Formats: sequence, C-alpha cells, structure tokens
Amino acid sequence: MYRGMDVISALQFSRSDIEHLIRVAEELRRRVEFGEKLEIAKGRILFTAFFEPSTRTRLSFQFAMTKLGGMVVDLGPEEVSSMAKGESPEDTLRTVDSYNPDVIVVRHREPGFAARAAEICKTPVINAGDGYNEHPTQALLDVYTIWRALGRIDGVRIGLMGDLKYGRTVSSLSYALSNFRDVEIHFVSPRELQPREEVLRVLDKRRVRYELHEKPDEVIEKLDVLYVTRLQKERMKPEDYERLKGSYIINYEYLKKFTHIPLIMHPLPRVWELTPDVDGLPQAIYFEQARNGLYIRMALIKEILGL
Ligand code: CP
Repeated sequence: MYRGMDVISALQFSRSDIEHLIRVAEELRRRVEFGEKLEIAKGRILFTAFFEPSTRTRLSFQFAMTKLGGMVVDLGPEEVSSMAKGESPEDTLRTVDSYNPDVIVVRHREPGFAARAAEICKTPVINAGDGYNEHPTQALLDVYTIWRALGRIDGVRIGLMGDLKYGRTVSSLSYALSNFRDVEIHFVSPRELQPREEVLRVLDKRRVRYELHEKPDEVIEKLDVLYVTRLQKERMKPEDYERLKGSYIINYEYLKKFTHIPLIMHPLPRVWELTPDVDGLPQAIYFEQARNGLYIRMALIKEILGL
C-alpha cells in the first residue's frame, strides 16, 4: 500500500493507514528497546534535504534510518552546497535523485514545495514541512502520542493553541484526527491567527466538530489534550510578531488554577509560550512526543521501502 509512495499531506492517511503505522511503530519500538540491532534497511539510503532549520524532524529521520540498518546522506547547510553559488533547490534535488537514493526527506519554507519535489524526483519524497502548509509526519507522531497516552484516538477532545494560521503541524494534525470518531477540536488563538479557511473546509466536509476560542481558560477543563504551538516568527511581519508575542503563555502558575490539567503536547521547538516549569508535571508529554517521532518514522520508512 505504501511502497514507493510520496508523503505530501496528512490527508493521504486513512484511519486504517494510521492504525497500521502505529502497530508497525510499536513492534519496531519493542525490538529496538529490547536491544536488537536491526538490519531491515541494510544497503538502502535515505537522503535528507532541509532548506529550513530543523532539529527533531531531520535527526529523527536520520536516526530512524540508521536504526533500521540503512544509511543516511544529508545535504548539509546551504553554504557548503552549490546553492551558495545560486543553484536552485529543484536542480539540487534533480541531481541527488539521479544518484538513486531510496527515499528523500525534504523541508522547505515554500508551501507546495514538497509536491513539486515529488514531481521532479522518481525517488519517493517525504514532506518534512513545506512552509505554513503541512507537516504530515508530525501529525503521525502526534496521533501516535495521543494513542499511547490515552489508549484511543476516538472521542479525543483536543485544544490546538497558538499560531494556527502559519503553524503547519496544526493543519496536518487536524487532517489526521478527522479520520477518527467523535473527535472535538478546540482552536485557541488570537483572532488573526485562526486556522486557515482551507483547513476548516476539510473539517466541515468531514463533519468534524470544532470551535474557535480566543483564550484557553474557556476550554481547558474540557480537554484531554492541550497542544501548544509557537508563533511562527519566520512567517509573519516583525511588527505582528512583537504585537502578538506573549498573547498566551502556558506556565505552571497558569495551569495550577484548574482542577483538571489536560495532557500537554507541543511539536517543539518551544520559545516562550510553554515554560520549563511545566516540564515536571505528569501531563507534560512533549519530550515523549518527540521520542515517538523516531518510531513512527521508522515505521513509515519501512513501509515506503516495502521492507
Ligand atoms: N516539530 C518539528 O518539526 O521540529 P523541528 O523543526 O525541530 O524539526
């Protein structure tokens, strides 16, 4: 089903696809944690091209392939490639594709870039984030994290908070959750950072229940999960960032006034919107969330390579 597939949007994944990937991720996790040295992807090459900064996505893909027994080649920063001489990302990928890697993982600041890369390359392309548009593998790890923490995804009541306009994890997660029954999404953001129309249209079409809020106080006690995101400083005007900065902050002082504290997730990196004094709460699962990215990406690579 997945063999040779490009992964561009979270909308490509059905409920059964996600459940299958979770099962594969759990099996790989069990084997890795048992200390097994996997050779599933021996002789295969994953190429990573990040034209935008990343810690978790880039490294977890690289670790995932390495732990599957495969090899990783990384483009490196722009200044060491011929992009520093003015070569386009498209020509860079065209060249790499001709070296026959087995899978290409690409991140770029431009919405729609991953789809274009997939047209250029005969190698399967995985979208590791294209501007404000989508981040489908983040959605997979987010859903996997919810499943691990709650034992279910059906019926989850989730607050998606922060920069919902420019934050690509929120659109992809909304799409992934729309496969499940009785999900309730509470979007919490300043009015001008509400989710994009195209995201809400998909939710309407799929009859997902959602509400828009400006403050988390209105909903926090109803939620199973509060998913916090940072303002995407790099995608907004500096004056807008300065004005909206600090419009919401989740810290221990804020959370302790509620009788029920939901699970706290964050795709990371965090800046000021989620303070380190929350880290000690049992509900703070964002570093576990990042760790889950390793196993779900191992599962995805395994399936795309047909291993
Ligand atoms: N969540 C996420 O995409 O993190 P990075 O930007 O560090 O990859």
